Amino acid sequence: MSTNITTELLRVDPNVIRFPKDATMPEIEPSETLTNLEKGVKILQAETPIAFPTETVYGLGASALSTPAVKGIYAAKNRPADNPLIIHISSVDQLERKLLFNTSIPDIYRPLIEKFWPGPLTILLPVPENTNISSSCTVGQSTFAVRMPSNPIARSLIALSDIPLAAPSANASTKPSPTRASHVYHDLQGRIPLILDGGPCDVGVESTVVDGLTDPPMLLRPGGVSLEEIRKYGGERWQNIQLAKASADKNEKVRTPGMKYKHYSPRAPVALFINPTDSESRVKEFISQFEPTPQRVAVLTSRAFGEPVVQAVQEHCQDVTVLSLGTSGAEISRNLFAMLREVDEQGMDLIVVEGIDETEEGLAVMNRLKKAASTIIN
Ligand code: TXA
Ligand code: MG
Repeated sequence: MSTNITTELLRVDPNVIRFPKDATMPEIEPSETLTNLEKGVKILQAETPIAFPTETVYGLGASALSTPAVKGIYAAKNRPADNPLIIHISSVDQLERKLLFNTSIPDIYRPLIEKFWPGPLTILLPVPENTNISSSCTVGQSTFAVRMPSNPIARSLIALSDIPLAAPSANASTKPSPTRASHVYHDLQGRIPLILDGGPCDVGVESTVVDGLTDPPMLLRPGGVSLEEIRKYGGERWQNIQLAKASADKNEKVRTPGMKYKHYSPRAPVALFINPTDSESRVKEFISQFEPTPQRVAVLTSRAFGEPVVQAVQEHCQDVTVLSLGTSGAEISRNLFAMLREVDEQGMDLIVVEGIDETEEGLAVMNRLKKAASTIIN
């Protein structure tokens, strides 16, 4: 893809859209938002990717049914060609009409779809015979990943175009996922024609990916819907859900192909402190091992890191920036990528991050932090 096209940033306001859960089309007040959505639809119809907000992170979407469109996504992001994409749909009706034809959605997913769609849950379905889904999107898997976003901008774009959109996160490959239009602009400026700016994302981490086609069912990626919620609302068969292992070898054919790649990496090294007890002395010891001593250091705190930890860093390092990720799981999820980007922009020598326990939102947060970290201190 050409790298010198002009990237337009257009504002859209999710509040002028009404899109009830079971509806197939939105109601949108005549507005700048509607005009800008229509511009987006035109570009998608021309098989070109655009960026737009979802409730999780910003996505870079293009028709899942067109190989040139999907190749445009991989090129803009510089994404490895063997990492398959999630297809985004606006309604179950559209999923059946455009992708499934005569096949039906396996029963195991019914309670989850009923509870979590539209929303941050991605499911795997078998690729139907004679499918029209581009092979660039599924990259040889016998399944495809699909979700219905709840963000009214994303969902309206898909409904108005009636095009199922393959959409990875709209970051340059390996960088933290974008949760604001400015993050997308920073990474993809000059590489895509349009970014719809709908403000900051609510959830802040990507969707949960589950595979109900295996026995037991698998959690392939923790995300916006927690494991506890899946167990609570999924019914009997989801009680036994297993976690996919967190990493895979370079040559392994894996069920979550994304697992083997570098992810969420700021330029500065990230040190993740898993266990919050006695963090003051452990942080001290860690920093004193560096030669030379890092000068510009960011400390991202959440629940346990207090003033003593900050002072321990300040004893060694000249220029210390402290940011609070928040205290609730929802806040920490929402702020995580934006704060990693913010401190990285400031050119830190080191980013020290406080870990949280891996329950509820903590599982997705720690999954992202472990991938971002160059050092994990237990
Ligand atoms: O929240 C989200 O899911 C965001 C927004 C834009 O919707 N999208 C997103 O896409 O995170 P991406 O491409 O960054 O992550 C897709 C993940 C990857 O880990 C990929 O390996 C996995 O889904 N995946 C896609 N198709 C798969 C399949 N058939 N089998 C197993 N894993 C699959
Ligand atoms: Mg991604």
